[in-house]
Amino acid sequence: MGRKVLVTGGTGYIGSHTVVELQAVGFEVIIIDDLSNSTAEVVDNIEKISGIRPVFEEFNLLDSDKLTAFFGKYPDIEAIIHFAAFKAVGESVEKPLYYYRNNLVSLMNILDCMSKYKIPNLVFSSSCTVYGQPDVLPVTENTPKKDAESPYGNTKAISEEILRDTVKVTPDLNVIALRYFNPIGAHPTALIGELPRGVPNNLVPFITQTAAGIRQQLSVFGDDYNTPDGSCVRDYINVVDLAKAHVIAINRLINNTNTDRYEFFNVGTGYGASVLEVVKTFEQATGLKLNYKIVARRPGDVEKIFADTKIANTVLGWNAETSLFDTLLSAWNWEKRIRNIS
Ligand code: UD1
Repeated sequence: MGRKVLVTGGTGYIGSHTVVELQAVGFEVIIIDDLSNSTAEVVDNIEKISGIRPVFEEFNLLDSDKLTAFFGKYPDIEAIIHFAAFKAVGESVEKPLYYYRNNLVSLMNILDCMSKYKIPNLVFSSSCTVYGQPDVLPVTENTPKKDAESPYGNTKAISEEILRDTVKVTPDLNVIALRYFNPIGAHPTALIGELPRGVPNNLVPFITQTAAGIRQQLSVFGDDYNTPDGSCVRDYINVVDLAKAHVIAINRLINNTNTDRYEFFNVGTGYGASVLEVVKTFEQATGLKLNYKIVARRPGDVEKIFADTKIANTVLGWNAETSLFDTLLSAWNWEKRIRNIS
């Protein structure tokens, strides 16, 4: 029996890839997910990849009675990776309380249980959104945070503060927050990937759905930014590479090699790619022509952001390995599989 890790949101996009990587190095994974943005089939597909079926408990983390009962049932969990959260920026602007309640109360419920059941290790899903539009690029972990652009972004900023303050007064608690840049791509088997509900907000699912004929045309939001080709620049990180950063973080906590009880790391490639560069690379990788047009800027978008990954590279010993080309191809292979395109 491996060491037990709880993965909340384990059937979601990043969560599912992380479950597979944890299983690959011998962890026994237990998933809690309410399937609000995923399906139970993900559990089957995780099993197809790893040969191991993770334990799956379906409930919402706001239900503290169920959460307490859960920890009573699995008392030997050593670490938690907390992914479960809402993440649609536009929706968070429409429904701020829905976002604040879900993302913050679930984290507080987890922290209460960690204290009650003496679980010492937590890895938290944070985001480069905490930096806003930084004055200096690339952003290091010490780049000053800016006010969040959306309630969603603010839940990540507030969550980090909750964690920092809770660690200060909880001697046994150790936390690593990973600040993701833009996760894209899918597992090389194409069995798990990103499955947005409705019209995708994010660039790469919109690209693959356009290529699959589900969307007529990609809108490129702005070509008049102060960037080499005028479109926005982001740091696109392969989801499997990102998943591996979580395994490293979990091992760091379990082996007590963390130097601070609250640590945070940028998880990106260090390379900033423009929207038009992503489109071109997608075309090269797939041999397809993508129907796109330039439209007005999207409100709330930052012009450019990419990570300084030195600290993650040296302290965690983690590196992004997969190219943008291969990552976009993996996203397309996933889209093809779920749409039965040969
Ligand atoms: C967004 C959120 C970020 C969140 C992340 C996770 C904002 C400002 N940021 O990141 O906080 O953590 O999603 O879901 O919303 N683009 C197009 N056409 C499209 C879609 C996107 O041109 O149809 C462009 C955007 O203008 C942007 C880039 O593609 O420049 C990436 O967009 P997206 O995938 O939505 O991610 P972010 O906006 O970086």
